[in-house]
Amino acid sequence: MSKIVVLDFGGQYKELIARRVRGLSVYSEIHPGRISANSLAYFKPDGIILTGGPNSVYAEGSQRFDPEILNLGVPVLGICYGMQLIAHYSGGVVKPAEKSEFGVFDCTYKGNTIKALMSHGDCVTSLPEGFSVTGFTENCPIAAFENPAAKLYGMQFHPETAHTEGGTELIADFLFNICGCKPDYDLDDVIETQCAEIRRIVGKSKVLLGLSGGVDSSVCAALLAKAIPGQARCVFVDHGLMRLDEGDQIEAIFSGRELDFTRVNAEKRFLKRLEGITEPEAKRKIIGEEFVRTFEDANRGNAALYLAQGTIYPDVIESGKSETGGAATIKSHHNVGGIPDNIKFKGIVEPLAGLFKDEVRALGKKLGLPDYLVERQPFPGPGLAIRIIGEITKERLDILRRADYIYRSAVEELPFAERPSQYFAVLTDMRAVGVTGDDRSYGYVLALRAVYTDDFMTCRYAPLSHDILSEASARITNELREIGRVVYDITDKPPATIEWE
Ligand code: XMP
Repeated sequence: MSKIVVLDFGGQYKELIARRVRGLSVYSEIHPGRISANSLAYFKPDGIILTGGPNSVYAEGSQRFDPEILNLGVPVLGICYGMQLIAHYSGGVVKPAEKSEFGVFDCTYKGNTIKALMSHGDCVTSLPEGFSVTGFTENCPIAAFENPAAKLYGMQFHPETAHTEGGTELIADFLFNICGCKPDYDLDDVIETQCAEIRRIVGKSKVLLGLSGGVDSSVCAALLAKAIPGQARCVFVDHGLMRLDEGDQIEAIFSGRELDFTRVNAEKRFLKRLEGITEPEAKRKIIGEEFVRTFEDANRGNAALYLAQGTIYPDVIESGKSETGGAATIKSHHNVGGIPDNIKFKGIVEPLAGLFKDEVRALGKKLGLPDYLVERQPFPGPGLAIRIIGEITKERLDILRRADYIYRSAVEELPFAERPSQYFAVLTDMRAVGVTGDDRSYGYVLALRAVYTDDFMTCRYAPLSHDILSEASARITNELREIGRVVYDITDKPPATIEWE
């Protein structure tokens, strides 16, 4: 089987690179950037991709790198910081750019102008010997280079993100034309390896799965059912932060199946702990801990030794917890950064932690889950708590639940295939003056968000029609006196994130 090794230098997108490669049916795995050339050769890669990273190649204490990797005779593609590493160790010069570039820029690459995501403060200012420039932008004269004789290639921009036009084709060109890879990797392999891994970890022990009803934990349930039939118990914690009627819907979907399913109503304990808390990371950490404590309480007699979660890769990377490198903490996903150190389970099983949303969906289909479960839009574990800016109270939750329901109903008039990947309302803590009838009103500002994305690591805001937006706004302000204004969020990720907190 063809294999690409991604060397991690701490960038946000390393799993996305691995994901793109696997999406092109080539097996890929990630290793720490500090690996020696000898150890790397042992894995027999057909190609090597060096990721971006937050460091400068010339800074003290920057990531270690064994330059012999560039002499293995295996093609190397350096992306962003990875390109600067190639330049630095091949005799080129890397310096702080006169103008840093963060965002989408026009890039002329091999004679074509493409939109490319740039995100860098440094750039290559002088080419190493044997290299030629293959791409440039207005501010960055060496935005891509190559040395085909040495099989070394660099891109300052990020071909792995959806923001870069034709990025997947650029990666495909590297894999198939430069590395000579064959498209011989299949998701079935993931099912087999993960089932074996689950059995290896848990043996005959019982497992308690935190089931939220979302795509990830549902797929995790299906995988556990296949790997260790009869050993898993699913516990759905209704923390009172769900959308309108969602707790009942989830109970209806999962009870009455061949599943050991329990619903725990935990609204009171969650709201009590969240009282007066406004800081987003504090909310996330409290919810993460309260989830585990509720699972522990539900695990009567400590029957289950292991806790299973449907954690997927973006949860891991954004929480700054990746195994191989030091990515920055963007937000602590409740199921990763929010897990307390002292838990009463022997260990945590996360069979989907290396996968992206679109892979998890494909896996769910392969495991036979119905489309309405697999295609559900994601809903974050901390629920509406991270869609309410400021303090979380039952009253504010109820306002958001109703507004969010009206907005979702308006969007859902679109045929399924045209709906954005995720759409929801956010209740801000800002108020605005208005006039209702002949009276002054002073209601909350509600923000509507809708995004398109495959991998949830980047997204584009959805240009929803004004018909949908007007319908939602009119209904919300008419039916909910507490809402004074409705605004629409038109920010991509990056620079924003999908959720507001
Ligand atoms: P962000 O806001 O990080 O969201 O751009 C990316 C995707 O992850 C979801 N999300 C979460 N999911 N626990 C989850 O299970 C969390 O703590 C969490 N935070 C964000 C978000 O809804 C989006 O789909």
